[in-house]
Order: sequence, then C-alpha cells, then structure tokens
Amino acid sequence: MDWRSELKALEDALTELKERYRQAVDPNVLEEVRVKFLGKKGPIKALLTFIKNAPPNERRELGQAVNRIKEAFESWIREKRYLLSEKEEEVKDPTLPARGIELGHRHIINQTIIEIVDIFKGMGFALSDGPEIEQEYYNFSALNIDITHPSRDAFDTFYLNLPPDKEKGKYLLRSHTSPMQVRIMERFSPPVAVVVPGRVYRPDAVDASHSFMFHQIEGFLVDTGVRFSHLKGILMEFAREYFYDEIQLRFRPHYFPFTEPSAEVDISCLFCKGEGCPVCRYSGWIEVLGCGMIHPKVLSAVGEKYIGKTGFAFGMGVERLCMLKYRIPDIRLFYSADVRFLRQF
Ligand code: DAH
Repeated sequence: MDWRSELKALEDALTELKERYRQAVDPNVLEEVRVKFLGKKGPIKALLTFIKNAPPNERRELGQAVNRIKEAFESWIREKRYLLSEKEEEVKDPTLPARGIELGHRHIINQTIIEIVDIFKGMGFALSDGPEIEQEYYNFSALNIDITHPSRDAFDTFYLNLPPDKEKGKYLLRSHTSPMQVRIMERFSPPVAVVVPGRVYRPDAVDASHSFMFHQIEGFLVDTGVRFSHLKGILMEFAREYFYDEIQLRFRPHYFPFTEPSAEVDISCLFCKGEGCPVCRYSGWIEVLGCGMIHPKVLSAVGEKYIGKTGFAFGMGVERLCMLKYRIPDIRLFYSADVRFLRQF
C-alpha cells in the first residue's frame, strides 16, 4: 500500500465532499457521509489499521497526516450541522413584525434622585457629588462625632484595609452624606446652598426596610442670618412638591452631633391621612428625614471664613422617600435583578 497516494486521495475526497455539499444538506445525508468516511469500512479506519504495521520511522508522519484529515472532516461535519440547525430556526414568514430593540430606562432610585434634586435646584441649590470612600475626619470628627460614638465602632462602619492618613485618619465607606458639608465648605466661601445625592454604607442586616447600602441626599445652606424658619420653609416646599399633596410636616426635637438644635421631620401618613394604620404604626406620622442648624463646632472646623455664619442642614433617605411615594413594600426590590419590578416605573 502506497500510503502517500492513499492520503492524497483522501484529501481530494474531502475537498470534493465540501464542494458537493456546499448547499445545505439533509441531516440524514450528512450522517451517511459521516459514516462512510469515518465508519468501520471507511478510508480513515483503513489507514489507521495500516499505521500499526507501517515501518516505525514512517509511523509518526503517517499518524499525524491521518489525524489532520480526520479532524478537518469532523469540524466540517460540526459546522454543517450547526448551519443546518440555524436554518431550521430561521423565520419563514417575512411578513412577521420585527423583534424590535428594547430600550432601557433610568432606575427608579435615580429617577427619584433627579426629581428631588430638581426641586432643590428650583429653590437655588447647586448640585454636587462626593467620594464613597471617605476619611474618618470628614465622616466623623469634623462633624463633631467624637471617638466614643457607637457609629465609629469597627462593627458599625466599613473600614478599609488601607494605611490611615496622618491627618484625616482611617479610610472607610461613608456612613452618611453629611461629610460633604465639610468638604464643600472647605472649597467654597459662603454663601453656599448645595444638595449632594449619593450612596452610603452601613453594616446593617438586610430586611424589608434595611440595606447595607442605600442612597441619601444631603442638603445645606450657610449664609449670614440663616434661621430655623428658613429650614422649615425649604422643607415644607420640598414635601409639597415631592408628594404633590397637602401633607403636614412635624418637626420633632432630636439629637445629631453636627446640628444644634436638631430635629427629625415626620410627614402626616399618606396612607391613612393621619387616622392611624399599620404603615405609620397607628401614630399618623412617618419619619422622613433628619435636620437642624449646623453646629458652630462644624463651622469653626472648616475655618475662619465660616465663623459667625449660620446655616441649616438636612439628610434624607432616597429609598424611603421612593417607597412612600410609590407604596413599595420592600427595599430589597430596588436591588433585585427582577426587571418586572423595574419596568413598572
Ligand atoms: N447624617 C444623618 C444620618 O445619616 C442624617 C442627617 C441628620 C443629616 C441631620 C443632616 C442633618 O444634614 O442635619 O442619619
């Protein structure tokens, strides 16, 4: 047996096959061809048997050549099969409407942020953002949150494994957007009026109303002669525009280290109009934000230019405001991969 000419014949046969079955083939025909080529009585098998008895010095070259052809044939079969299966799936009716491209849209949290920011822009506030990786100084000390405060505990804040900064301390994921009050005042002289939306992080167990990451909007205004009544007016206008409803606000005395006096703001329950229901825990009121007059210690931490000025600040949770407006029962829905939820907005 002259195996070189056998090989040549095999190669030619393969080329011819490709030529002959250039068009799509019946899968049964394709299977017949495969068996003919690779089967027990096929030429490949014959050559492989021959190799066993070939002179040792030729065995290697022969083996490689046969394998090359075998692989080329197999991959041709695979490709044909693939093309056949694609053909079957092809739409046969050209009058069917096209599938169309589905456009995405803004996540409801971003829509809410934009809506809230727009309300404050309308009242003259500027917009800023800030770093999610914050330093201890801005997140705590500059805001008059002292070292013994529970939120500074390693278990209550996500600290980063980075060498601390000599002046500004350890790096952490910000637990609120309030550090931006200080960062902005350091850069700009009064008067300032700014809103800062962004993500904040807390090691809270996740449930229907808690998440380790959520969004806040910080707002503050500093000038000469700013009073608590200005704060009230701004927040009442905000609530009226956001909930577009005649809702009541209640300023309830509270404590925050960075404001004095401080208050929590409740809105009259949207669900029961103040009558009492499970959502407001039968109190008729729902807490929506924290606020107060910026503590003089915070202003003096910023420096000379803010001493003698007064200002107010507030911080609100975006998820919470969004859940109230759209009656969303569970915060986890915002972060789930279920687009059926997101498509509603
Ligand atoms: N930073 C506070 C928090 O995350 C919220 C807050 C309260 C912000 C009072 C303020 C404020 O600006 O004046 O709980």
